[in-house]
Amino acid sequence: MVRATTGTLGEFEGLDPLVEPVPGRGWDVLAVWGGARLAGTIPVSAAKNAVLPILAASLLADGPTVLRGVPDLEDVRTMCRLLTELGCEVVWQPSRTLRIQNRGLQVHEAPYELVRLMRASFLVMGPLLARAGRAKTALPGGCAIGSRPIDLHLKGFAALGARMEFAHGRIQVEGRGLSGARIYLDFPSVTATENIMMAACLARGTTLIENAAQEPEVVDLAGYLNAAGGRVRGAGTDVVRVEGVDALTGCEYQVIPDRIEAGTFMLAAAMTGGNIRLENVVPEHLKAVVAKLREAGAEVAEESDTSLRVRGPIRPRAVDIKTLPFPGFPTDLQAPAMAMLTRAEGTSIVTETVFENRFLHVDELKRMGADIRIEGRSAIVRGVERLTGAPVRATDLRAGACLVLAGLMAEGITEITGVQHIDRGYADFVGKLQRVGARVERGTMA
Ligand code: EPZ
Repeated sequence: MVRATTGTLGEFEGLDPLVEPVPGRGWDVLAVWGGARLAGTIPVSAAKNAVLPILAASLLADGPTVLRGVPDLEDVRTMCRLLTELGCEVVWQPSRTLRIQNRGLQVHEAPYELVRLMRASFLVMGPLLARAGRAKTALPGGCAIGSRPIDLHLKGFAALGARMEFAHGRIQVEGRGLSGARIYLDFPSVTATENIMMAACLARGTTLIENAAQEPEVVDLAGYLNAAGGRVRGAGTDVVRVEGVDALTGCEYQVIPDRIEAGTFMLAAAMTGGNIRLENVVPEHLKAVVAKLREAGAEVAEESDTSLRVRGPIRPRAVDIKTLPFPGFPTDLQAPAMAMLTRAEGTSIVTETVFENRFLHVDELKRMGADIRIEGRSAIVRGVERLTGAPVRATDLRAGACLVLAGLMAEGITEITGVQHIDRGYADFVGKLQRVGARVERGTMA
């Protein structure tokens, strides 16, 4: 039981629905004591945003798919529930190995409550359309960071020959015998690229996806599809070419490391004057992050092909950050990076170009003494000498990580509610921070 030592329980009660109490437990709360300089080694887990599309893609394959090193995440459990609802047999094997076997796909509808819970559920649409000729699901709602439309996904499905029907908050997509097409994405949407890539794998002929997303997770999905017998070329560039094949077969696959988790811990080292070695990383995926950390005064060294060491300065320098599609600075690290900038020497300008409303962490950082002003799509962050611990709430996954990091630098104790958001995308976040000397405790408040 974590006592709300700096605030009173009353400060948490009556929180708005963005922070829902965990049924039967109340609010999960993290208490973070500031002041530790983090030091030690952290093993990075496999990438959430690679394993989710690959789990969806397993619906395309005849025969079992075996994924190795699957991270222990809430979103992975949600996707496994969804695959089970669609008739798949999903079995956990030892050492984080997952075996998925679909069974002819009699069910084509993703349950509303799962799509509401996790937008990435929409990734089953492409595989269901390609394999079963139809798919139905609830329209994925917006979330804390923006409206999250799906127009680009639907534009791709329509180009492949599918018909769309909207009714009662649901969307039904139908199309037997899809045909290859040339599709231009108005924005290099990650999951739209992935959904169209999956649908095109079993279409007749060739599909070109232009202005495609180039994220490493898109490349990893293509790697899985090709290992299963697909013919996907150009993933990682802005033009992806998919040659339709008759069938895909299940295979074994190892998912890439999570560059966003790695970047989060690199920032934790940089903002606490720490010294952390990160293992199981792909340095190639972290170039924009490494460049910004060096600009802020951190030392970053590649110690092997799969490990990096980050040494933080006494006090980071202010840097300007503009989020962009890969290979630019990732939007998922904008909030964690802002935590570092709140105590940097000087003023930083943080511009969010990917999502329209990804500054919800700003008000919470200001409760801790940060000096931040939002102007349109930019936040002006004036570095202050110190932050102080306060009761704050996490509104989404990356905002939650941001507040934990800020608590590590703050004087006193920071209590964070809404930590279930963190469980969605960071495996053993608290345990990994404790390994490098952070004092973080998880409790519940009735
Ligand atoms: C993926 O979301 C990631 N999620 C997000 O990670 C990540 O922040 C985002 O890509 C950007 O890198 C997964 O991969 C499961 P987008 P996605 O489609 O695909 C607009 C996290 O914290 N857009 O690239 O939903 C949209 O409005 C999560 O791990 C359209 O206009 O992001 C947004 O402004 C958060 N029409 C922009 O594109 C569409 O049809 C980027 O969205 C689709 C998107």
